[in-house]
Amino acid sequence: MAISVPQIHKPHAPLDYESWRKVLANERLPAAVVDLDAFDRNVAHFASLLRAGAGVSRLRPATKSIRVPELMRRILASGAPYQGLMCYAAQEAAWLAEQGFDDLLVAYPTVQPADIAALRLAQERGATARLVVDSLPSVERIASQVPAGAAPLPVVLEVDMSLRMLGGRIHLGVRRSPVRTVEQVVEFFAAAGKLRGVRVAGIMGYEAQVAGLGDRNPFKKWINPIAGWIRRASMRSVARLREQIQRALEQRGETLELFNGGGTGSITSTALEPWLTEATVGSGFLCSHLFDYYSNVRSEPACFFALQVVRKSDAGYATCLGGGFIASGEPGWDKVPRPYLPAGLKLVSTEGCGEVQTPLLVPESQSLEPGAPVLFRHAKAGELAEHFDEYLLVSDGEIVGRAPTYRGLGLCFIG
Ligand SMILES: Cc1ncc(COP(=O)(O)O)c(C=O)c1O
Repeated sequence: MAISVPQIHKPHAPLDYESWRKVLANERLPAAVVDLDAFDRNVAHFASLLRAGAGVSRLRPATKSIRVPELMRRILASGAPYQGLMCYAAQEAAWLAEQGFDDLLVAYPTVQPADIAALRLAQERGATARLVVDSLPSVERIASQVPAGAAPLPVVLEVDMSLRMLGGRIHLGVRRSPVRTVEQVVEFFAAAGKLRGVRVAGIMGYEAQVAGLGDRNPFKKWINPIAGWIRRASMRSVARLREQIQRALEQRGETLELFNGGGTGSITSTALEPWLTEATVGSGFLCSHLFDYYSNVRSEPACFFALQVVRKSDAGYATCLGGGFIASGEPGWDKVPRPYLPAGLKLVSTEGCGEVQTPLLVPESQSLEPGAPVLFRHAKAGELAEHFDEYLLVSDGEIVGRAPTYRGLGLCFIG
C-alpha cells in the first residue's frame, strides 16, 4: 500500500531533479540542503506581509524552526522588519548572546538556577535577554535568584490564547499558561511589579490553534472544515483578548517593551493587529511540508534532505539508506518526511521512513539506480537540523556554502 498525497504547493522556481543530481553529484549522502534562493524569497515574502498591513511592525524569527546560526544571521541581515530572535532555551540565548546576537526572547519558561544564571550572564555582557513566564510563583523563584543590587531580569508574561468553551470543558489550543483573562494579567503585573529581581517587560500570546493547525491537511481531510472553523473563531477571539489586554495595561500606565503573538500559520492575521508590537515567524523560512497544509501560507519549500538509493528488491521499488526523521507532535502520517524529487515516489505504508532504510514505490516511468539521490522534505522546519552537522547552501544550482547546524557546532540545548 502506498501513501498518496496531493501536491498542493506550486513553488516559484524550484530546482528540478536533474539540477539537484548535479548539485549533489560529489556529496556524501545523506545530506541536507537549503535552496537559498527560495529561502531569501520566503524572507522577503514575510516582510512584505507587514508592509501591506498597518499592524505589527517587527518580525521575530523563531530559532527552534531554523537551528542554523548562519541562516538566522541571514534573515536578520535583511533588515527591517526583522528584529531579535525567539529562542527555545535559556542556554541557547546565552550562547547566541556570546555570538553577538541581541534582543533575545526565551519563549519557554524555566526556573532552573543554571538557566537564570546563563540569562543574567548574557545580560551582564550587554545583551537583552527576556524570559517568558506564566505564573507568580515561578517569577518569585526567578526573582529570588537575582542578587540584591543586580540588574533585574526582564520577564514576559505568556497569556493563554486557546479557544475555550463551556466554562473551559472544551479547550482548543496548547496547554501552556494558566493566565487567560485581562483581570489575571492586571493582577500579575501588580504583584510581579513589586518584586525586586525581575522587571515585567511585556506579553506573549501565542495562538497555537491557528498558527499550528492547518486547514488543508490531506492526511486529516475530515478535520479540515473543523480546523477552518477553529482558526476563524480563534482569530476573532484572540485579537479581541489581545486588544483588551493592551488597553487595560495602558490604562494602568504600564509600558510594554513588547507584545508578541503569532507564528507562520497565523501571520496573515496576526500581522494586522495594531496592539501587538511584533509577530513571530519560524517554520515559514525553510517551509517544511506541514506548512503546505495551510490555506493562508504562501512560502516555498527551501529545505530538503537527500538520501541515496542503495537497493532494488522488486520491480517498482527502490530503497534508500536513512530517512526516519519523524517530527514531534500528535503522531500521524503528516509527521513523516515526504519524498519530493524525483516526482511520483511514494512511501510504503507498512514501513514508512525507516530507522535505517526507507523503501519507496517508484512509478514505471522512473528508473532509480543505486547511488541515485532522492530528495525528501521534513514535516517540521527545525528538527531536521538535529540529524545533520551542516546544511549545504545552494544558489542558482550550485553549492555556495556550508552552514553548521547547532548539532554540527556541538550544541544540544533541550536534547
Ligand atoms: C511561542 C511560539 N511562538 C511562535 C511559534 C511559531 O513558530 P513557527 O513560525 O515556526 O510555526 C511557536 C511554535 O511552536 C511558539 O511556540
